[in-house]
Amino acid sequence: MTSRYAEVYQSWKTDPEAFWAEAAKAVDWSKPWDQVFDPTSGPYGRWFAGAEMNTCHNAVDRHVAGGRAEQTAIIYDSPVTGVKAKITYAELLSRVQATAAALADAGVAKGDRVIVYMPMVPEALVAMLAVARLGAIHSVVFGGFAPRELATRIDDAKPKAIVTASCGIEGKKVLPYKPLLDEAISIATHKPTAVFVTQRPQVEAVLQPGRDHDLGAAVEANRGRAVPCVAVKATDPLYILYTSGTTGAPKGVVRDNGGHAVALTWTMFNHYGIQPGEVFWAASDVGWVVGHSYICYAPLLYGATTIVFEGKPVGTPDPGTFWRIIEEYKVAGFFTAPTALRAIKKEDPNGEFLKKYDISSLRNLFLAGERADPDTVKWAEEHVGVPVIDHWWQTETGWAIAGNPVGLGLLPVKHGSPTVPMPGYDVRIVDDGLHEMKRGEMGSIVIKLPLPPSCLPTLWNADKRFEDSYLIDFPGYYKTGDAGFMDDDGYLFIMARTDDIINVAGHRLSTGGMEEVLASHPDVAECAVIGVHDEMKGQMPCGFVVLKAGVTKDAETIEKELVSLVRAKIGAVAAFKVAITVDRLPKTRSGKILRGTMQKIADHESWNMPATIDDASVLAEIEAAIRERGIGV
Ligand code: COA
Ligand code: AMP
Repeated sequence: MTSRYAEVYQSWKTDPEAFWAEAAKAVDWSKPWDQVFDPTSGPYGRWFAGAEMNTCHNAVDRHVAGGRAEQTAIIYDSPVTGVKAKITYAELLSRVQATAAALADAGVAKGDRVIVYMPMVPEALVAMLAVARLGAIHSVVFGGFAPRELATRIDDAKPKAIVTASCGIEGKKVLPYKPLLDEAISIATHKPTAVFVTQRPQVEAVLQPGRDHDLGAAVEANRGRAVPCVAVKATDPLYILYTSGTTGAPKGVVRDNGGHAVALTWTMFNHYGIQPGEVFWAASDVGWVVGHSYICYAPLLYGATTIVFEGKPVGTPDPGTFWRIIEEYKVAGFFTAPTALRAIKKEDPNGEFLKKYDISSLRNLFLAGERADPDTVKWAEEHVGVPVIDHWWQTETGWAIAGNPVGLGLLPVKHGSPTVPMPGYDVRIVDDGLHEMKRGEMGSIVIKLPLPPSCLPTLWNADKRFEDSYLIDFPGYYKTGDAGFMDDDGYLFIMARTDDIINVAGHRLSTGGMEEVLASHPDVAECAVIGVHDEMKGQMPCGFVVLKAGVTKDAETIEKELVSLVRAKIGAVAAFKVAITVDRLPKTRSGKILRGTMQKIADHESWNMPATIDDASVLAEIEAAIRERGIGV
């Protein structure tokens, strides 16, 4: 089949408003828009201004009313607990209403924030939908973050309530969540008035009378209560999702209701080639944007079936888990991160586990979250036997900036490229002066404003930070923070970040945030954290520290303390395992630490002596320290 991509992209470019107005017909609106796009509001304009709708109605109620009541909405498969369950759209509606009733009784109303700090259990999705139903705003925080990170988010979002579970289960480890949450609330200045806890059989959380509630009991007590969907403006926030910024303070990415529903619904067929009623599985976590968009919202908005998987690609119990799930639930479209495939490939290089399962229901395997390295893509193509489709996006956009649109007809796959810009995105490769680079030449990747529906209209309570972070450097364009090139066929190649963000096992982390933690150690004078290439996780953080003069404690003890400090302050997800003490850090004459050169040395890449270096001999010391510790080999 010839791809309709070029024609559809052109139709968007010719008339973006007509394109999105057509796509918006797939969403139920309680009030139509006054303008498809209002260029006068917000830092760069707003989509569907004047319109009203409710995201939960679109994701749940209308499917129950429209004949999908008995269709499975959510499949829960938890190899770590041995539990499997199926929740129909009718049952989902009942649970969402009961949860919404409990939240409303605790005072949660339109515009209020609710933090969801949950492992991969269906209650996480139910809580998100219940919050959306009330016209309130959720902020899901990934379970791998430490109390201090959670506290930062509590203070920024100022939630009225928090929904959590008694524990998460990571492989064989049971991690009690409630003590972490209690600690976070005690650190935070803002105090939520209510906490709802899903009590799991593995750990019973201690509830604080007056503030804490047993969520399961509250849901049962409120079964059967009708809680209507509260109409909100299309431009009202549906959620805030915090992501790493260039400083330790996370950025609260705001997603609005209307544009999000329109764009995500558009992607289910056009990008992923899925039909309503089919099973779509994103093996991510609700704490990340992939989990928001493709575990929760897009499949449900579209009337498909989604899977909540509580496990890992390997070790729960073996590298055949993904393929078992695909066989068992007849998954048609599967989305994971390259790092997960690398983990499977390492344990099952010849695909022996794969051969045990019938995965013939699968039509496409989608990859995102980090660069899909050609070796991994080739391995997957050979063993999984379906098109392997890389696509590139960010927390900020909520859906693919570039991809290979299955529904419009696949374009030829080029390994190492997420293919072409999706309708809505006018992507340019530029130099620092905003001059377009020639095809094949590396530059900063920017997107011409306005961004399409679903992309962040701003940061939570931080318009200025939004403009400073994304709009100021390239006037009229959104700065993605990624660098790469476009080839002669218009294919994009995403090669690196232009800021201090590193990508560890598909998780986006700020080295600046880790440096702030290292610098807080009383014995550390200065430090630098870089991302070092890692075979499985893509990158791993590595810290270099210079100790204060007169420190008598031995370096090895301090290094261990630093590793524990990052784990305690940021969380296990930072995967910070190596701190190296050095005498000096390499700097330019103006005092800037040469992190880029340090990274090249650690990755054993070729590097040139920076012309502005203050003392060239420091690099030899760094090289020796790296060699001594066996980094990057
Ligand atoms: N709650 C608490 N802790 C968590 C957690 C969670 N939800 N998720 C991860 N952690 C912990 C892990 O247990 C680990 O702790 P440890 O240092 O005590 O072992 C640490 O955070 C690092 O986790 P991770 O980077 O996931 O490493 P891993 O070795 O446990 O697993 C992979 C490696 C490749 C299997 C795993 O990273 C993976 O499945 N990655 C895919 C990522 C993904 O889907 N990203 C979403 C973008 S699409
Ligand atoms: P996150 O906001 O956590 O989804 O991370 C977004 C960042 O991950 C992007 O800005 C890229 O740096 C990286 N990324 C995501 N998907 C891809 C991809 N397909 N190819 C290359 N990099 C990617």
